[in-house]
Amino acid sequence: MRYKQLVSSLVAAQFDGMDDNTILELLEYPPNPEMGDLSLPCFKLSKALRKSPQAIADGLKDSLQHDALERVDSVSGYLNIFLDKSRFISEQIAEILTAGPVYGSRDIGKGGTVVIDYSSPNIAKPFHIGHLRSTVIGNSLKKIHRFLGFNVVGVNHLGDWGTQFGKLIVAYTRWGEEAKVESDGIDELLRLYVKFHDEAEKEPYLEEEARSWFVRIENGDEEAIRLWKWFVSISLKEFKKIYDLLGVDFESFAGESFYNDKMAAVIEELSAKNLLEEDDGAKLVRLEEYNMSPALMLKKDGSSLYHTRDVAAALYRKKTYDFVKSLYVTDYAQNLHFQQLFKIVELMGYDWAKDMAHVPFGRVSLEGMSLSTRKGNVIKLEDLLLQAIDKTREIIESKNPNMPNKDEVARQVGVGAIVFNDLYANRIKDVVFSWEEALNFEGESGPYVQYTHARVCSVLRKANGGESIELPVGGALDASKLLNVEAIGVLRELSRFGERVEQAMVKLEPSMISRYLIDVAQSFNRFYHECPILVDDPAVRASRLALVKCVQITLSTGLGLIGLETPEKI
Ligand code: ARG
Repeated sequence: MRYKQLVSSLVAAQFDGMDDNTILELLEYPPNPEMGDLSLPCFKLSKALRKSPQAIADGLKDSLQHDALERVDSVSGYLNIFLDKSRFISEQIAEILTAGPVYGSRDIGKGGTVVIDYSSPNIAKPFHIGHLRSTVIGNSLKKIHRFLGFNVVGVNHLGDWGTQFGKLIVAYTRWGEEAKVESDGIDELLRLYVKFHDEAEKEPYLEEEARSWFVRIENGDEEAIRLWKWFVSISLKEFKKIYDLLGVDFESFAGESFYNDKMAAVIEELSAKNLLEEDDGAKLVRLEEYNMSPALMLKKDGSSLYHTRDVAAALYRKKTYDFVKSLYVTDYAQNLHFQQLFKIVELMGYDWAKDMAHVPFGRVSLEGMSLSTRKGNVIKLEDLLLQAIDKTREIIESKNPNMPNKDEVARQVGVGAIVFNDLYANRIKDVVFSWEEALNFEGESGPYVQYTHARVCSVLRKANGGESIELPVGGALDASKLLNVEAIGVLRELSRFGERVEQAMVKLEPSMISRYLIDVAQSFNRFYHECPILVDDPAVRASRLALVKCVQITLSTGLGLIGLETPEKI
């Protein structure tokens, strides 16, 4: 970024009234180093400057001068800029080493609060791989925003309210057993839920019974509440196990039920603002004018809906956290729901409706079949994580049987494989789940990056003759010792880190960081194979080690931003 800024101001100064940012936005990284370190396509400037792109580039080639630049070329409308390599090497390394763990960050947020609603699984249903996506995308967005100076509140909007609890009570009272629910937890609750649907197909009155149980829950009936609370606590226990494995946490677990006593006020406000319409006993907000179907707010029997609770939650979050941005991470099947929600808040007269955004992601299917809780067609996340951990342990057992903390590393790497796999593609892409792929540790995977980081740590440890991965003291950096394609290639990657993180924030796209980390790891591995590090020549050794330390810092921070741990030994 530093060099982009420098070049922008140099170029802008050549033209009257030209803003640095105009140039900054145009600057590109050429696809290969022969075309320079930066490149300015002059096509878009042509109109304003009333000159051909070629003439603009030719003019700049003659006038642009600065110590940081080795030379500039004009090639078919592009200005290709070559940095002075020695200067680039020493400045870049100094920048990373000085910043350490905050390298790549910038205080964009200035303490403004971002609320991120993520994970939000449904009580009494298994935590499946669809919820994994919301969990890991949300968790990464949280880390990215924090890194960029925002205050982040992670909210788990648990699905702990709704007609399904009426169904569950019907199923439990008819076919359930307390001991079995206690011992089998969500598995048994799911079995009961699936049975309810099978039976209700034959005996439709069961649906009616379920609805009336839910009304009893909403009215605070003692027995109904007791059962509901029990289902919630059983589910939470299992969810917490998964969050612990993943290393994910939340600032708030205010689920749907939390808004129970806040819904009447919402209904009143909607009605006072003339937004509510009665329709056959139910109440809804009409949105046809905005090309959306109406949003149901109250059912005929007076019970609330998913929508009602989300309007209440939006108002509550604004009041409580005064957010500058409020994000909702769910699959794209809920696109309409969130568009409706944002529109309703806007129609209520709140200008902060524009600060809310849906972060949709693609759906997960299982070998061609969509996942369905009702049909019992789910992959339980816990099974997946445990298998990944087992597989990692087997690999460690065969390659490094004497490693001291095998269990811990197996968890870090096994979970890392699953999380990285989920964050590698653009979030909006559908995912066809395959066990083979999720457990693939080769190539562009989390374990590959984690392993590269561990290798980097091992070089630093050896250089220190012990445990420390700090840069050994002594031996000054001599940039001339790093003037080779591989070393410069690594530094070029590292220099783009901050920009990548910012893009990931703007696009709400953690995959930009995952892919970046693969690039860094690959470029480091090329360097590692070409340039022996722990050589006798003290200047070469010190300079290469400084570069290695920069890689360690960047990989470690980057992995952290996508929620992966960074074991120092694998
Ligand atoms: N529980 C919902 C589901 O599993 C996701 C909730 C998302 N958050 C929200 N505020 N609606 O699909």
